Amino acid sequence: MSTASARGPRITKAVIPAAGLGTRFLPATKATPKEMLPVVDKPAIQYVIEEAVTAGLSDVLMITGRNKRSLEDHFDRNYELEEVLRRKGDAARLDEVRASSELADIHYVRQGDPKGLGHAVLCAQEHVGGQPFAVLLGDDMVDPRDRLLSRMIEVQQRHGGSVIALMEVDPSQIHLYGSVAAAPSDDDHVVTVSGLVEKPEPADAPSNLAIIGRYILDPGIFEVLRKAEPGRGGEIQLTDALQALAAEPSLGGPVHGVVFRGRRYDTGDRADYLRATVRLACEREDLGPDFRAWLRSYVQQEMP
Ligand code: UTP
Repeated sequence: MSTASARGPRITKAVIPAAGLGTRFLPATKATPKEMLPVVDKPAIQYVIEEAVTAGLSDVLMITGRNKRSLEDHFDRNYELEEVLRRKGDAARLDEVRASSELADIHYVRQGDPKGLGHAVLCAQEHVGGQPFAVLLGDDMVDPRDRLLSRMIEVQQRHGGSVIALMEVDPSQIHLYGSVAAAPSDDDHVVTVSGLVEKPEPADAPSNLAIIGRYILDPGIFEVLRKAEPGRGGEIQLTDALQALAAEPSLGGPVHGVVFRGRRYDTGDRADYLRATVRLACEREDLGPDFRAWLRSYVQQEMP
């Protein structure tokens, strides 16, 4: 049962799964993780780590797959490049190059086989230990101006258990997400989740509330994941493990949902990736003015 005054241990660790195959973005993702695709001029995953750090989580564990090299290199120092930029006196770029290596305390663990998101999260057990922790999907971008993760942490500290992020989607799109059965709580935009189902047919979906890629999980989830059987698509599904927590709160529940109404992009989906790129480019101080002018004339001339 939720206890409004529950204050659990402080959440300090973020787990970022980035070991998926990225088949929706082939061939770009044949040799490059989709999380490394640039959104304007930064890899998508850097925005995700920046979001974790902004919410106070600077201990980051990345779950990597077969193409992990570029991920590790991006967050490591590159002395040769730094030296070239220093000699050129290019201080701005030198700062940018340094920033990604100083962003957070980043650790890596390898998911041998991409057996699903639940299996990726299970790979974090040793690093995380017995504390609640955050999971941020490496291909899911939340606009930093729209507060989500810190709100989820507050909800977890208040109610205990596990917290998921939800977004209302058009019912015709719910088969692309996990969907939940939920009831309002006494907290604004927070629901109590009683059931979860991964990628349901629209007719079977309990609601049009879709699960998006931010979670605060009770460590009890590891025990459930260790025993989990493959679910939809033959993968170990995080949604199925959360369903077990919602059904039996003593395992690591209750499960609450924060309903998010801000800007969010699935950068593993080509159309959403393009939307993120165009929007962020338009809003940039350096690129925005020229790019917006070009975009305006492109739309007027080519798409009247
Ligand atoms: P997705 O389902 O979007 O990843 O997983 P995918 O399987 O790579 O996607 P497509 O459908 O083939 O394009 C959401 C997140 O979970 C990670 C992915 O890297 C992504 O960040 N993931 C998924 C893992 O780390 N391991 C897995 O086994 C599956």
